[in-house]
Amino acid sequence: MASTMLEVKNLTTYYKTRMNEEVCSVDNVSFNLEDGKSLGIAGESGCGKSTLAMSVMGYYFPPLNYKSGSIVIDGKEVTTLDPDTIRRTVLGTDIAYIPQAAMNALNPTRKIIRFVEDVLQAHGHAADMDKKQIRALAEERFNILNLPPKVLDQYAVELSGGMKQRTVIAISTILSPKVLIADEPSSALDVSSQKIVIKLLRDLMEKGFVRSMLFITHELPLLFNVTDDIMVMYAGEIVERGSAKEMVFDPIMPYSKGLMNSIIVPEAGTRGHVLQAIPGSPPNLKKRPAGCRFSERCFLLKQCQGASESSVDEQAAGPGRSYRCKLSESALRAIHKERDAKLEAKSEAKPVEETV
Ligand SMILES: Nc1ncnc2c1ncn2[C@@H]1O[C@H](COP(=O)(O)OP(=O)(O)OP(=O)(O)O)[C@@H](O)[C@H]1O
Ligand SMILES: [Mg+2]
Repeated sequence: MASTMLEVKNLTTYYKTRMNEEVCSVDNVSFNLEDGKSLGIAGESGCGKSTLAMSVMGYYFPPLNYKSGSIVIDGKEVTTLDPDTIRRTVLGTDIAYIPQAAMNALNPTRKIIRFVEDVLQAHGHAADMDKKQIRALAEERFNILNLPPKVLDQYAVELSGGMKQRTVIAISTILSPKVLIADEPSSALDVSSQKIVIKLLRDLMEKGFVRSMLFITHELPLLFNVTDDIMVMYAGEIVERGSAKEMVFDPIMPYSKGLMNSIIVPEAGTRGHVLQAIPGSPPNLKKRPAGCRFSERCFLLKQCQGASESSVDEQAAGPGRSYRCKLSESALRAIHKERDAKLEAKSEAKPVEETV
């Protein structure tokens, strides 16, 4: 049986604003990531994906704060470690994070090799390596990943968007982390650069430079090509989880279903559906709705008793599969089937956009 690389249990974190308000963007989140596996996290803007990514590293600085829960990386509990120990002994080696839009944050006045030196230094590895050894390590890794080593002597401004992102990924994984968190690594790129970046992430896993991966995107269908499993996040909570195939082709919870129906996907089986926008936007997390957080946007609100009063637990729907909704799995499936049939009939002429 595969061992668990990352185990997150009941993790709750929040931002403290300048007005002293608490914004709880990660609320009682639990999940496991197995060795050799990749897990996708999808959800609209503001659902808490990046906050979850930052939170699972266990390295908090204002305005982000830890409230409760545990994070175990390859058997090591990190929530009890002090920040300096985490920086030196956990970040880079146990867990590495490629922040959203990291490629645009590269200082344009420094050569790429300097960033490699910075990573090794920040995580306490530069002391036993001289500059020649650092360059040799960087050249070897860039070569294996089909990145021209001459990039190491270039400045970020000399690189295309796709090359910059691949470079950032190669630098962030130079210490071969057990868990890599890639936050929207392909969102700002054109389609062909996206494919190259995704191939690079796959190569990193296949070659064993990264043992397991969390891949964050707002596009649920993109994860089908990249990850083994997928979780959908809404208003700080995980609202559905399952294998990539189940989540893309058979979402149960109305929000995941809405997310899937709102995107054009050039994949077999998802082509030609009527595009539907999810009305409204995610709730303000300073004042989370009391009951089901999706209730005010849900097309099933009328059928759902007490959705806006009491909270909704995750319902099990098979091994590794669960959803957060008051309605039963069978009721939801029947409703989706009927609606899909109606929408398919409508879309026979040509795809149209409509709001549910
Ligand atoms: N520094 C901050 N202070 C207060 N609230 C914040 C801060 N950063 C984020 N938030 C809030 O936390 C929530 C989650 O934000 P987060 O950036 O994690 O979302 P996301 O799912 O990554 O969105 P996106 O797809 O746009 O990257 C949002 O409601 C946001 O307003
Ligand atoms: Mg984000």
